[in-house]
Formats: sequence, C-alpha cells, structure tokens
Amino acid sequence: MSEEQVEVAEAGSSNGAGGGTANTVTITDNRTGESVELPIEDGTLRATALRQLKDGPDDFGLMTYDPAYLNTASCRSAITYIDGSAGVLEHRGYSIEQLCEHSSYLEVAYLLVHGELPTNDQLATWTHEITMHTFVHENLKEFLEGFRYDAHPMGMLLATVSALSTFYPDSKNIDDPEERRMAAIRLIAKMPTLAAFAYRHSQGMPYVYPDNDLDYAGNFLGMMFKMTELKYEPDPRLAKALDTLFILHADHEQNCSTAAVRAVGSSQVDPYSAAAAGVAALYGPLHGGANEAVLRMLARIGSVDNVPSFLDGVKDGKEKLMGFGHRVYKNYDPRARIIKKHVDEVLEVTGGAGNPLLDVATELEKRALDDEYFTSRKLYPNVDFYSGLIYEALGIPRAMFTVIFAIPRTSGWIAQWLEMLDDPETKIARPRQIYTGHRQRDLQADLAVLGR
Ligand code: ACO
Repeated sequence: MSEEQVEVAEAGSSNGAGGGTANTVTITDNRTGESVELPIEDGTLRATALRQLKDGPDDFGLMTYDPAYLNTASCRSAITYIDGSAGVLEHRGYSIEQLCEHSSYLEVAYLLVHGELPTNDQLATWTHEITMHTFVHENLKEFLEGFRYDAHPMGMLLATVSALSTFYPDSKNIDDPEERRMAAIRLIAKMPTLAAFAYRHSQGMPYVYPDNDLDYAGNFLGMMFKMTELKYEPDPRLAKALDTLFILHADHEQNCSTAAVRAVGSSQVDPYSAAAAGVAALYGPLHGGANEAVLRMLARIGSVDNVPSFLDGVKDGKEKLMGFGHRVYKNYDPRARIIKKHVDEVLEVTGGAGNPLLDVATELEKRALDDEYFTSRKLYPNVDFYSGLIYEALGIPRAMFTVIFAIPRTSGWIAQWLEMLDDPETKIARPRQIYTGHRQRDLQADLAVLGR
C-alpha cells in the first residue's frame, strides 16, 4: 500500500451508496457517478477520506481547498474551548471569569501546560523554578546592543527568543521529558526579561535585572520602569491588573501565532525556534497589533462630540471601528468584559482618571451597541478595545503593546506545542496546493526569445 492509500484507509470510510446512518455523510461524485459514505467524527470529515473520489485511476483524489483554514480543524486539543456565539472562553474547562477572579497568571500557565490545577506544593515549586530562570545569558545583552536605537522592540524580542535556542542546544532533544520541562520553564521565565530589555534598549536606558522578590507581573514592571531607587516596589493594584491581562492573553486556541508554533514545531525543531515563529506571527497588525490601532483611533476621534460622525463614517465604509468584531466571537468577547472592569481602577491609581480617550471609548461602545449596523453584524468589543487604554495608563509605550501580548501567550504556545508532540496523529505540517502556474515550458526556446 502506498502512503496515500494507507492514509485513505486509515480515514475509515466505506465505499458504496449505503442507506446512510446517523453519523455519516454520503457524497456522490458526479464525474463518475460513484458514491462514498464517510463517517462524521466530532462534527468533522477527514479530508483524506475524500481522496478515494477520483475521476480516473491516475487521479490524486479529491482535496479540500480552505485558504486561511476558515473551516478546517487542524488538530485535536484539550486546552482551550471557545463558544463564539455564546461568548464563552474556558481553559482546561475553567471559565476565564473564574480564572481571572481566583488565579494568578503563573497558576493559569501551569494549568495550560500541565492540564490540571497545581496543588499548593506544585504551584510553589513551579513559581520558584520560573523565578529562578528569569535571568538571561549576558551575551544576550551584547546581542541586543547590535540593534539600532530605534529598532522595534517586537523585532528585538523575535530575534532574542530565537537566539535562546543557541544557548540551550540540548533543547533540540524534544523527546526528552526533562528538556521539554526546562524549555517550558525557561520560555515563560525569560520572556518578560527579553521584553523589558528590548524596551530599555529602545529607550537607551540600562537593563534592569530580574528581582526574585517580586511576583511575575511586578518583576516585569520593575524591569521596565526601575530607575535610581534601590528597590522597585510596584503598586500591587497595577501588578494585579497586569497579571489579569496576562491571564486574558494566555491562550486562545488555534489563532494565527499558535498555528504558526504548531506548524513550525511539527518539523521537530527546538521549542525556542517554534516560539519565535509565534512571536513573528503576533507581530502582524491583524493579530497582535490591534490595540495600538484602537488608541490611534480614539486619539483621532478626540472627543465625545465627534463620536456620532465617526460612527457614520464606519457605517459608510470609510472607517473601521478598531477593537470591534472578531472571527470567532459573535457576541461580547468575555475578555473585553473583564478588562473593562480594570480600566477605571488602573486609571485611578495612575492619575489618569478623566482620560478623555476613555470617555470616547465608552461613548463609542454605548452607541455601537445600540446601533442596528453593529448589532445585525454581531460586532461587539473585543479584547483589544480596552487593553490599550490600560497599557497606556501603565506608562507602556504603544510599540510595546504587542510585546506584552507575547509574554503571556508564551504559556499557550508551549502548552499547544507539548500537546502536539504527544499527539500520535502529528506529522509535519505540509499543506497541499492548487497549482496555477505554467507547465513544461521550453527553457532554451524562451531564452532565445529573450535574446540570451
Ligand atoms: N468595524 C466596522 N465594520 C466591521 C468591523 C469593524 N471593526 N468588523 C467587521 N465589520 C463588518 C464587515 O465590514 C462586514 O460587513 P458586511 O457584511 O457589510 O460586509 C461584517 O462586519 C463581517 O465582518 P468580517 O470582515 O467578515 O469579519 P471577520 O471575521 O473576517 O473579521 C476582524 C474579524 C478581522 C477581527 C474584524 O472584525 C476587524 O477587522 N476588526 C477590527 C480589528 C480588530 O479589532 N482586531 C482585533 C481582533 S481580536 C485579536 O486579534 C486579539
């Protein structure tokens, strides 16, 4: 049996017209008149099962065409559940609301990576190990020095995460459980350090080493903002708000960057290189950059008085209401609801209460939720509508917003990478194509036409 035949056979389809049982679909190929009955498993058809539909013995067999994976499940996953119509987000079965209320980011990271909540001892060990691995090799500082003063911090993060693989060459032994465990700890631990170093470089300020006395979010704030004080003491309310933002961004099932991590990781490359693929995907404005666009939009609108005319422009197709709409959520993004609760608190602590941009955002949301154009299209605020306001209130420059997204998403990437490695169905990701180019051209004849 060829590899293709094996795949088709493994797909478990049965030939013949058949009367149709509850969990099958019968497809008739009108080119040949042949019918096949294919099993429906978890609401999906095996794409390879279609390959037995051929219009001749030499035909490769029917494929599916699904650019951007609009209707293709690429894996089985037990990590994150989203019900986009109901506005539900759960990690390992726990709602995002409960996790934000009762857990810390590091506990959620443990849950994502290990599948279960930690005991007190397990959480203490996990926290200790992550705290003990926050330092990066001194050579990484020199590596950062090679970047221009105005290098984008996300570009620096991308390069330094990928450089980690050269410091931990044994991480390429991805079948070694200890190497996997250490990679998970190192990536979660070092990402805030690399992110803060990238920021300090862009400011021309000295790097601040991690402070093991601080918690995960507080330590990140310290590495970002510590100046001459001997001991940086983060405001616990701000550290808590940032920790909540970290929880909200920890994982979101098969989004663009996670799909990138899985695809690159399926080549069995080391985990740092796979995570770098995730950072690269997140760098794009359609993925990690929307909150920055929200702030630019709010600033452009300027005042509450201008909101109605701005919304008219959106409805006329001249503008886009950034921070609204989502490919999966066709209801209020549950993460936006949680963030919104923290906005006032953060602005109050940072003295930004009365920020006119918040008034603009509030008015925009109120009017849009009351407008048939938005409700009929199921356009609701997404996670990015309010997160930029919080970051800005924390004093974080806009270029760092996406970098801050990458810090917590690392735990999701690792969890998904580990799950992929343990999945017996994992093979190297290698899509098919519909070839649209030339065939069998004559090189010499064409060179002659070019006078060569
Ligand atoms: N403002 C105005 N109209 C919108 C918006 C918006 N933000 N989003 C969608 N629409 C309209 C579309 O024009 C379309 O209208 P039509 O039916 O009259 O043509 C309809 O709503 C459906 O929209 P689609 O583009 O089909 O939705 P899709 O799922 O492809 O896009 C996306 C989702 C990219 C998030 C989109 O809503 C958008 O661009 N939003 C603004 C950017 C944003 O906030 N991105 C962050 C997403 S969250 C995250 O990545 C962490």
